[in-house]
Amino acid sequence: MSVTKSLFGKLNEEEIFFYTITNKSGASVTLQTLGAGVHSICVPDKNGALADVVLGFDNPGDYVNPDYGYQGLTVGRWANRIRDGKFTFEGKEYTALQNQGTWTLHGGGRFSFTTWEAEVNGENSVIFSRFSPDGEDGFPGNMTFKVIYTFTDDNTLRIDYCITSDKNTVANPTNHTYFNLSGNDGETVENHWLMINADYFTETDSSQLATGELGEVKGTMMDFTTLHKIGDNIDVPFRACIGDVGYDNNYCLRNTEGRFELAAVLEHRESGRKMEVYTDLPGIQLYCGGWLSRNNTVGKGTSLVTYRRGVALETQFYPDALNIADFPLWTVKADEPFKTTTEFRFSTL
Ligand code: BGC
Repeated sequence: MSVTKSLFGKLNEEEIFFYTITNKSGASVTLQTLGAGVHSICVPDKNGALADVVLGFDNPGDYVNPDYGYQGLTVGRWANRIRDGKFTFEGKEYTALQNQGTWTLHGGGRFSFTTWEAEVNGENSVIFSRFSPDGEDGFPGNMTFKVIYTFTDDNTLRIDYCITSDKNTVANPTNHTYFNLSGNDGETVENHWLMINADYFTETDSSQLATGELGEVKGTMMDFTTLHKIGDNIDVPFRACIGDVGYDNNYCLRNTEGRFELAAVLEHRESGRKMEVYTDLPGIQLYCGGWLSRNNTVGKGTSLVTYRRGVALETQFYPDALNIADFPLWTVKADEPFKTTTEFRFSTL
């Protein structure tokens, strides 16, 4: 195993670095200081051929354009949507930035779009850190946010989030990587098979804001309790989906008690690549890139960031859990580390 550092490029005169972790089989993960993000993951198909299975950009500047969907980036302080950008915590009202319509999406501010400190952590791990001052983007507490990436010889990418604050506060970190296991620049994700370990999803209104109700997946296009193709039902009209966008919904994982368990399985049968997602968080956002423009010309080489080319499986607390008392939530206690872990385990069929 080894970690190598190289220069990605410059953004506003600031240097952006890559850290590449390579394992004994030659599989690798490249991380970037911009947004503590995942730039590429090169894993084998059933014949041992390596290909990059995540979307991203050749140009650092494209990562900071929110219209390109937070490719690979760490999202904080609060992933997903907050109705009206407002929430009450321990009796005090807070206002986050309304960066979309009247609501907050993905923390609302620059959190994902800045450069993070990086430190090599042994032969197969890198720690990214960012200090977020009290009140940044409207959230309480001086917060130190660490994202520890580890890549193993058996092709698991582990992401440990370790957050500390000087005040009680809230955090909902996620990683926003879009996967396409085909390794084929011409394919969307509709041909990928998916299982999500969830019987319910969070119902949403016409602005995709959580209503507080849970819907049953059974008998609807939302059902991924057994493996089937993403494309089978993606365009079936459904109350919690926006026409043409397709899946962009939070699933309520069966485990809501913080155990580290299997959340989802993604397979691309032609290449034989498989990915399992494990997490201790109670929710996962299934987003198939349906808001990305069909006409984008940006990406990595000929692998473009376009409509439905990648599937994001964002482990998280349920959207708007800050305002909906019934949704599971554990918060950050002053001066105590808050930890959560997600793993993406790659293998072949
Ligand atoms: C949201 C999408 C959004 C995407 C990129 C997802 O988590 O649910 O609606 O387009 O992130 O910002």
